[in-house]
Amino acid sequence: MTVHFIGAGPGAADLLTIRGRDLIARCPVCLYAGSLVPAGVLAYCPPDARIVDTAPLSLDDIIAEMKAAHDAGKDVARLHSGDLSIWSAVGEQTRRLRALGIPYTMTPGVPAFAAAASALGRELTLPEVAQSLVLTRTSGRASAMPKREKLAVFAQSGATLAIHLSIHVLAQIVEELAPFYGADCPVALVYRASWPDERIICATLATIEPKAAEAPMERAALILVGPSLANEDFRESALYDAGYDRRFRPRGSL
Ligand SMILES: C[S@@+](CC[C@H](N)C(=O)[O-])C[C@H]1O[C@@H](n2cnc3c(N)ncnc32)[C@H](O)[C@@H]1O
Repeated sequence: MTVHFIGAGPGAADLLTIRGRDLIARCPVCLYAGSLVPAGVLAYCPPDARIVDTAPLSLDDIIAEMKAAHDAGKDVARLHSGDLSIWSAVGEQTRRLRALGIPYTMTPGVPAFAAAASALGRELTLPEVAQSLVLTRTSGRASAMPKREKLAVFAQSGATLAIHLSIHVLAQIVEELAPFYGADCPVALVYRASWPDERIICATLATIEPKAAEAPMERAALILVGPSLANEDFRESALYDAGYDRRFRPRGSL
């Protein structure tokens, strides 16, 4: 018996990996993390599967479900939105499973920031404009940020920022970032990327607040900030430059 943690992707059911889909299809128990995991993904469960929404459960309850499945010799598909490696609360579950000696696997999923970049039709790293992407959040009711992980610290680098779980503090974020990126720095808000009701607002640090106020977004929205979001003047990468000698296309071979 194994607990299979599976990244269920950002929303669209066809943004699930084939491995994830096949695991879901063969697990008699499916535990899924609330409304961010779409019904279309749950549709891959076997017809007689035990399917449990864990949103109202405590960690103890969730582990009890896994332990009961373990005692009955039943594999579990444990679904979390996006990818498992960021803000999925997988760390505390796997720690408990290790202590209990219950085996588990992890299958990655498409993270929300990647779905948001695709929705925008943009690359988040451009030559000589931005070569780093910071995945971060602001303090929440349940989780404070570590003292040194401040937006201002990340902003000093000018990297592209993907700020999660923070749409409710947009004004504060604009105020903190403007001194570093400048008022005309591009900002994109992507609400429910890849869901049927996906919405995008593109503006600058100076104009994003009034624009966002016209049609407020809640919860499942990502704030992307950085010059790469609207830059058309960047240098082309050396990778496809005909004059650039590289391992898989030596100049002598042309
Ligand atoms: C608890 S975190 C989960 C992150 C997830 N594990 C991932 O890999 O993207 C939830 C936050 O991710 C972002 N998010 C999740 N799904 C999203 C989507 N489809 N579109 C935009 N943002 C999303 C929002 O910022 C939301 O507050």
